[in-house]
Amino acid sequence: VKRVNVDNIYNHVAYLSEEIGSRGAGTEGELETVEYLVNQFESYGYENVSVQEFTFPSGGDEVTSYNVEATKEPLKKHDTGQEIIVGSHHDSVPWGQGANDDASGTAALLELARVYASTPTDTSIKFVAFGAEEYGLWGSRKYAEAMSAEDAENTVAMFQMDMVGSEDAGDLVMFTANGEKNTVTDLGSAAGSRVSELVPYSELGRSDHVAFHNLGIPAALFIHTPLEPWYHTEDDVMEHISKEKLKNVADIVGSAIYQAARKDTPALE
Ligand code: PHE
Ligand code: ZN
Ligand code: ZN
Ligand code: ZN
Repeated sequence: VKRVNVDNIYNHVAYLSEEIGSRGAGTEGELETVEYLVNQFESYGYENVSVQEFTFPSGGDEVTSYNVEATKEPLKKHDTGQEIIVGSHHDSVPWGQGANDDASGTAALLELARVYASTPTDTSIKFVAFGAEEYGLWGSRKYAEAMSAEDAENTVAMFQMDMVGSEDAGDLVMFTANGEKNTVTDLGSAAGSRVSELVPYSELGRSDHVAFHNLGIPAALFIHTPLEPWYHTEDDVMEHISKEKLKNVADIVGSAIYQAARKDTPALE
């Protein structure tokens, strides 16, 4: 996707991981992150940015966290009534900067939202940065819980990007919650992503796609495997982030989305 600007993605990773730093759920870092995401989405022209507040139990307390969402509306005359969700998680583990996990996916999410703000589509596209993934996929579960039956019915694809920028990790693959191919992995494969060895669903494959799979929505996680050695350590920092990896993922997911969002039109240049 030519309009994807990798410098934008790289700069978002730098802002999230270095300017803000650690973004553990329920911390000051999360509040700064939510503010950054809202401001970015609004700067692309989204007027419907919404913040879903939720709480989750942790260490005997109820911790407050947030999902941040911007919705790209379809062209009225082509509207299929279908919806696509593109996701990442904006939180990090509390002891690290989470440059790859998951500032990388969140940065790619922002850039795709920017590109799609001015791209006509036949479906609506919801760009959602989830909170509190690291504490047990809370944001995506709360989001899925709040979806109406009609929304769930109309949602045809969910693309999750988690850990998509490390120079020290392996190739881009897709995981699904049950280890089977689906519409999303078909679109991803056509766009150039490899399907992981189709092992049955395991703890290893957990990210925010799972809650959508559980609603019957075709969903997949885009991730590099094998994981980098810095996974969940304080060494998950900017210096291990690869612009090439970021660009590749944004191109692949960006064009896979396009196929789902404009069924009868050629691939986005
Ligand atoms: N969800 C994991 C995390 O954020 C990332 C992950 C997904 C790791 C799938 C391995 C396999 O930490
Ligand atoms: Zn993690
Ligand atoms: Zn993650
Ligand atoms: Zn490195």
